[in-house]
Amino acid sequence: MKVFINKRIPETGIDMLKEAGLELIFPEKENLSYEEWLGYCKNADTILNVGGDFKYDKNFFDVCPNIKAIALYSVGFDHVDIKEATQRNIPVGNTPDVLSRATSDVAFLLMQSVARRASYNFQKVKDDNWGTFDPLHALGQELYGKTLGIFGLGRIGYEMAEKSRKAFGMNIIYHNRHQNEEAENELGATYVSFEELIKSSDVLSVHANFTPEQKELFNQSIFEQMKPNAIFINTARGGFHNQKDLYQALVDKKIWGAGLDVTNPEPMSADDPILGLSSVCILPHIGSATVEARNGMARLAAGNIIAFSKNEKMSNCANP
Ligand code: DGY
Repeated sequence: MKVFINKRIPETGIDMLKEAGLELIFPEKENLSYEEWLGYCKNADTILNVGGDFKYDKNFFDVCPNIKAIALYSVGFDHVDIKEATQRNIPVGNTPDVLSRATSDVAFLLMQSVARRASYNFQKVKDDNWGTFDPLHALGQELYGKTLGIFGLGRIGYEMAEKSRKAFGMNIIYHNRHQNEEAENELGATYVSFEELIKSSDVLSVHANFTPEQKELFNQSIFEQMKPNAIFINTARGGFHNQKDLYQALVDKKIWGAGLDVTNPEPMSADDPILGLSSVCILPHIGSATVEARNGMARLAAGNIIAFSKNEKMSNCANP
């Protein structure tokens, strides 16, 4: 079975695939064009896909009829038309759990960075503008006892809530497709409506799976309903927020700050005016970028391909 792997992944996953006797195909160069990428896909039976550069849509499946399975090197699957894949009996594996800790760590890091104005203060040091001790300058806000609103209480949202409760005694509210009573008992979390989440959160952290219906859900009208001291955190997908509206909300002081590990668009332009604001901290989608998480993802993705090659069920599948 031929497996196309569009980017290098940690060796632990490659070793597993080699031991399973699979034929591995790597691209001869980085940054393939869409046509070049399709060319590789057409000649493969399965794909171990890294990143969301290209969409697995109807056109893809029409042009690459030989593809029998896709193993994503990600937990997110918003770049795959799952309905189309399912109709064609193509399993789409993903890599949940192994990156929940790392990704929620980044949400937690952003929350603290924004609350204590880390980017702004770091810039002062770099600008040789340390200044003298000023009782009224560079003041952040403490998170102790504040309300953390989780949008999407899946594995990553759960870990973010747990860390924040343990570290800062934060009061946890959440909004989710379904109420999660077990998590409520463990976290002391309260299920609230979306409107309540927006209005009551001191920190609002986005952790849901992205779907097209939720495109730019967090926009001007939502930012306007948030508390003026609120911090908006997005480590899920950039498509969840309208970045121009977020910029304006920060400029107009409708909210206090924002921490993003995902941007809209992604990658974002270095000319984006939001980068000029002292109330933001922005990272280039590094949520799962730890040795531990990336090795775990490699093993899960490779395991999914191997399971498929043996006619077994993938351990984690995005298909319903
Ligand atoms: C994921 O796994 O979905 C991360 O966002 C990396 O793409």
